[in-house]
Amino acid sequence: MKRLPVLLGLVVATLIFAANAAEPIVIKFSHVVAPDTPKGKAANYFQKLVAERTQGKVKVEVYPNSQLYKDKEELEALQMGVVQMLAPSLAKFGPLGVREFEVFDLPYLFDGYNSLHQVTQGSLGKELLKKLESKGILGLGFWDNGFKQMSANKPLKMPADFKGLKLRIQSSKILDAQMRALGANPQVMAFSEVYQALQTGVVDGTENPPSNFYTQKMHEVQKYLTLSDHGYLGYAVIVNKKFWEGLPPNIRVAMEKSMEEATRYANEIAKQENDNALDQVKASGKTEVLTLTPAEKATWRKALLTVHETQDRVPQELITKVYQAIGLKQ
Ligand code: LMR
Repeated sequence: MKRLPVLLGLVVATLIFAANAAEPIVIKFSHVVAPDTPKGKAANYFQKLVAERTQGKVKVEVYPNSQLYKDKEELEALQMGVVQMLAPSLAKFGPLGVREFEVFDLPYLFDGYNSLHQVTQGSLGKELLKKLESKGILGLGFWDNGFKQMSANKPLKMPADFKGLKLRIQSSKILDAQMRALGANPQVMAFSEVYQALQTGVVDGTENPPSNFYTQKMHEVQKYLTLSDHGYLGYAVIVNKKFWEGLPPNIRVAMEKSMEEATRYANEIAKQENDNALDQVKASGKTEVLTLTPAEKATWRKALLTVHETQDRVPQELITKVYQAIGLKQ
């Protein structure tokens, strides 16, 4: 008779163990853009790949559109382990104390995705991701968005047109310098607040690739969009280091494979997504899309390339390495 409680205890323990074993590992992946964007689509694709590869043992929960956290808060949440995965824009790592990523914000640095990939998909990209480790973060890869265009309620054709305009920027100090080089007043603001700030006139304009511009409905509240391609916006996919390193090795391998595939997918669709979004903006008839003549573009370049010389934010040595990787003369 005495044995019965012991047996019962064993049965209960086995049941609890089995129930726990069946519980999936949950990864909260928070981001600030719409699902129908390069980042949104790649996050959803990653979710699907992980579910397939781990036979449901890992569940990636994707929270788009700043549903969980805004720009700055999401980085804090990742460090605290409240969420496990993010893909912030490279212009948003400054507040974390990692200034190097702002190199990607230098105006007219990359002349297209190919030159950019020399950095993001090469050894320099890996070196940059390593900078995150001392912050308790692991960088898994770079996902593209695209090249930024400038919007306002007045046509922006020449640098003089920017004088006195209040323009929303991400938190990067290089972007601050960029807007000042044009004579504008930069204002740092979370992405989730931009639409309303444009609508109410808190800011006069902004910059973003067409995919973000269209999916946040900025075309409803901006009369002009200048195709300036003056800078790049893309992402680092990052995870909480302690969480990632604590995953069972076979699960981690499955996740890494899924990330490689999702990265390829993100970088394959980004250009097309932005081209489609630009077509939608044009079709809406709400924003007039302006192109620059070669002479106008030359004045933008002249004004903006000064930022490469005058900035003291990104180590010169890193800028030189990037120039070398993309074959730019110094
Ligand atoms: C922005 O704040 O404009 C972008 O970083 C949003 C994003 O994640 O693409």
